[in-house]
Amino acid sequence: RKVRVKVPGSTANLGPGFDTLGMALDLYAWIEMSEAAATKIHLIGDQMKGIPTDKSNLIYEVAQMVFEKAGVLIPELEISMYSDIPLTRGLGSSAAAIVGGLAAANALIGSPLSDDTLFQMATALEQHPDNVGASLYGGLVVAFWDGERAEHIRVEPDDRLEVLVAIPHFQLSTEKARHVLPREQSLANAVYNVGHSSVLVAALCTGRLDMIPRAMKDALHQPYRAPLVPGLSKILAEATEHGALGVALSGAGPTMLALVDRDSSRKAELEQFLQGTLRGEQIEATLLW
Ligand code: HSE
Repeated sequence: RKVRVKVPGSTANLGPGFDTLGMALDLYAWIEMSEAAATKIHLIGDQMKGIPTDKSNLIYEVAQMVFEKAGVLIPELEISMYSDIPLTRGLGSSAAAIVGGLAAANALIGSPLSDDTLFQMATALEQHPDNVGASLYGGLVVAFWDGERAEHIRVEPDDRLEVLVAIPHFQLSTEKARHVLPREQSLANAVYNVGHSSVLVAALCTGRLDMIPRAMKDALHQPYRAPLVPGLSKILAEATEHGALGVALSGAGPTMLALVDRDSSRKAELEQFLQGTLRGEQIEATLLW
């Protein structure tokens, strides 16, 4: 028996929703898994260089967590993975690997674990529910985690929305981009983000695209991460003048994410602005629903 799962990458935060908003993108990782006589891990593609192919591989490890929870013993696995999701760029590649590993292992043994159980396991591994929620459930996921349980609601993204991601060439580890954040924040910043994030979610749920430029603003993480991504401050300040509905750092960065109206005639202008400011390559990604 061999199973194959296809898991989307994602963008987290959408600006103010730090560690709480995630949206699936049409970039994918594919994972194949079967029982084997001896463990073999095939990582397909150049960007997989340096990733372990022994039992310390993340996908192998999360698969064993599923088997343990389900009370099944499958110590040897053959795993193949191919991914279109650029690594260490803020596009949820590690969340996709975790969710893909959990989902493939669960499917291999007849799916005894619920999606909610997989969500709890994935969130505990990532320590935030945003990327894993989007990879597991698709669409736009609004979530929180209290350290014990994660809760979520999936929202259908508005079909007038399109996502443009501008992906710089350099990598930025989530660890480094979280390390620069202050441990303590002011009440004013907390209120700013709760307000903006709440209005952003309400705008996305009710189709108020006109509210996105004002709601997609953050005081909790982007200002502190700006020094790590040259061009970020300028993009945050000016992208709406170049046709973006809203703009944010994608997850922990360095990718920049812009929301655009599907029918906008200014996509080329926006792409040029992002490219010129970030000096990165770009790809266009549409929402997944
Ligand atoms: N919410 C997370 C962060 C996503 O911004 O650090 C990155 O994994």
